[in-house]
Parts: sequence; structure tokens; C-alpha cells
Amino acid sequence: MLDKRNELNAWDRDHFFHPSTHMGMHARGETPTRVISGAEGVYITDTNGRKSLDAFAGLYCVNVGYGRQKIADAIAEQAKNLAYYHAYVGHSTEASITLSKMIIDRAPEGMSRVYFGLSGSDANETNIKLIWYYNNILGRPEKKKIISRWRGYHGSGVMTGSLTGLELFHKAFDLPRAPILHTEAPYYFRRADRSMSEEQFAQHCADKLEEMILAEGPETVAAFIGEPILGTGGIVPPPKTYWQKIQAVLDKYDVLLVADEVVTGFGRLGSMFGSDHYGMKPDLITIAKGLTSAYAPLSGSIVSDKMWQVLVQGSDQLGAIGHGWTYSAHPICAAAGIANLELVDELGIVENAGSTGAYFRSELAKAVGGHNHVGEVRGDGLMAAIEFVEDKDDRKFFDPAQKIGPQVAAALLERGVIGRAMPQGDILGFAPPLCLTREEADTVVKAAAGAIDSVLSKR
Ligand SMILES: Cc1ncc(COP(=O)(O)O)c(C=O)c1O
Repeated sequence: MLDKRNELNAWDRDHFFHPSTHMGMHARGETPTRVISGAEGVYITDTNGRKSLDAFAGLYCVNVGYGRQKIADAIAEQAKNLAYYHAYVGHSTEASITLSKMIIDRAPEGMSRVYFGLSGSDANETNIKLIWYYNNILGRPEKKKIISRWRGYHGSGVMTGSLTGLELFHKAFDLPRAPILHTEAPYYFRRADRSMSEEQFAQHCADKLEEMILAEGPETVAAFIGEPILGTGGIVPPPKTYWQKIQAVLDKYDVLLVADEVVTGFGRLGSMFGSDHYGMKPDLITIAKGLTSAYAPLSGSIVSDKMWQVLVQGSDQLGAIGHGWTYSAHPICAAAGIANLELVDELGIVENAGSTGAYFRSELAKAVGGHNHVGEVRGDGLMAAIEFVEDKDDRKFFDPAQKIGPQVAAALLERGVIGRAMPQGDILGFAPPLCLTREEADTVVKAAAGAIDSVLSKR
């Protein structure tokens, strides 16, 4: 067993190109390799027999928890009966049709069709193409710019990496590309003018967006994309009234709204969709992660009826739409999606995300909110973040070179709990499976308090 483990570690360093990993340190063996071998409920186990409570649900995706027999059976059954058929030229499978219906039944009002992909990134690529196609069909070929936000995360393809507003994802990749622009992040804790109330700051963000649209020319701005709550950018809920104010600006200049619900779709905020949770009125919705709880890779672009009518006109003018992936609506992934959405209902995890989420965040705030180096504890539903500061009164941030966030995440792991050091800022993020119990929430809170004390008590 030890030999096998050593062999796997060596092969991993020699042959496996990992995403989002320091390539040199990993290849040289300077950072640990963790080989995950099993999982059950909210716990994962590695080949050393070490068990950890996964309080980030993988990459905020294993919403129903690990080891669900129902989904495994649905995948096996589909693989046996029909492992694959494509969806081109009107072909379908029972699984992909059923899942489309289930998604539209759960989606916010006014949504009409689902285009399936495999990742959140490719779904946002689809969205960009649909937006451009839509404006071409409407005879306004100059209306193509897409406004995203600094700290938004929308994927790491060429265009979706451009939409993403995080330095790490642009550096040395020649991103962002035109015609993508970024406006102010709705990050109240980091606002420049600390005298502003949340509503004033929301107005400031809406004013900045309007200024950008006017400076660019409204006839050139096609769409605005945002996550209902900033995710990878720091787990930051919008300031009060933000989406209402943003929506008013978009409506005024005929700019489409894309709600990127890759993280929030299917229950994470305690509502089926974040758009309903915050009163957004999207024209397109991006879904992935929670659609299958990551038991199989599947994403989707949910298209509103308003856009669908124009897309139909497009194919009446131009012929079949020239957009497709081999694995669009893959039946095995669709079968996983159906079983997963049934489980979401059967287990009542949307409600649990609301109630256990509120409990978790309030216990976390009680346990660590008073710490000298905790600037803010924030979140919504089952998403939470702790932001560390060097000086609380002056809201002075640590020098990033000190890597406080990663140090606390490492200390947390030593205590048997996985959180995520968010990539920009000293922020410890939590997004556990939505089946989390109060006892499991207590375990996370206790470990977080211990980790913070161990790293920050002497500073
Ligand atoms: C909001 C959001 N959009 C898009 C993506 C990209 O999804 P994927 O990694 O499946 O391409 C992510 C991934 O974390 C995300 O959080």
C-alpha cells in the first residue's frame, strides 16, 4: 500500500498538470499532494486514511453531499441503456428532455429553454455568443460590449476568463480581451468612502455602471453579467438594494442581464435561484455545479422567452444555429441531474441551506467576529466568509506576501476541516454541502476559531 501511495505521488508530480496549482512547487515536491480516495456525507478521505469535513463542498458543487446511491444508480442505469447520443439536428434522449423540463419548472419567471454544456465556463461562452447573435438578428451589430465586475468570477476560457475580474486569471494570459469591460465590485466592506451606508454604496455602484454605459455609448453595450452574490471574488453579498438599482440602469439602456448562478443555482442561498432571492430579472441564467451536485459534469444556459423569440427569428433567417458541443445534453450527465434535483426536493436541502446557513453564520460571527484580526464575517445561505485585517479600526489589510488566508486555511485543515483561502485578499471561505447539519456546522465553527487563534493570536 505504501509503495502504491509513493508511486501515485511520483506519477502525480511527473505527469499530472493540475489546474490552479503552483506548477514548479508541485513538480518539485515542495507542496503536499493529497490523493482523495473516498467520501461520504460531508466528509472526504485520502489514501493516508485522513478524514476531513469538506466545508467547501469540493468547489462549492457537491450540494447533496457525497456518496448518494440514488445518483450513482441513475448514472449506471443510463450508461447501460444508452451511454450517449448527440443532441444535434433535433435529437433527444428521455433524460435530457426530462431535465430541461425540471429546470424550467424551477427557474425564475419568464425562462423558456435550456442549452446544455459541460462547465460553467462553456455555458458563459454560450451566453456571450447568444448575446452577440441576438443583437445581430435585431439589426444592431454595434451593440456587443459586455460589462462584468471586478472580482466577478465567470470561468477561465478566453472570453470567460476575460469576464472574470480577478488578477490571477488575467496575468500573462493577455486577458481581458475586448469587448469586455469591468465596473466596480459591490464590495461594501472594501468601499473607498467608509461614511457611505449600504444603500448609498449600492447607488454609487449603479452610478458607476451608468457612467460607463454613457461613456461607451449605450448603443454599444449589450449585456451586464454578475453573480447574485460574489463568489470566488470573496463571498460578498450585495449591499442592500444593489440589484434593484443595477436593474433600473440596465432597463434604461436596453442592456441584457446575465445572472451567473453557477454557485447559487439550486439552493445555495436558501432559495432555488439567487435571482429570485435578490429580485434580479435576468435574460440569461448560467447554471452548473448544483445541477448535478458534481456527480457528472453538466452546465446550462437558461434562455428567457424574450431572447428565445429573437433566436428563433435568427434561424428562420440564417438556418440552423452554428453552435454545439459533442457532449451537449450528455444523457449520463442528464440522468445524474434528474436524480440530483429529485434528491434536492426529497431532502429539503434548499430550506436547510436557509435555516442551517443562518445558524452557521451566526455561530461563526459569535465565535470569531470579536477577534482583533477579523474585519468582517459575512455571507448568505450556506456561503460564508471571514475577512482578516491587520488593524480593525483602520481597516488596514495584511501584506498579501504574508499569506494570512492560506495560513489559516492550512491550520483549519490540521483541525480536520476544509475551507478555502479565496484568491484575492485574506479571506477564508465556506460553502459546505447543503445537507450540513447543525452539529457539523458546530464542528466547522470550532475548528475555524482554533485555526484563527493559532495563526493570529500573536500578531
Ligand atoms: C460563478 C461561476 N461562474 C462560472 C464558473 C466556471 O465554472 P467551471 O469551473 O465549471 O468552468 C464558476 C466556477 O467556480 C463560478 O463560480
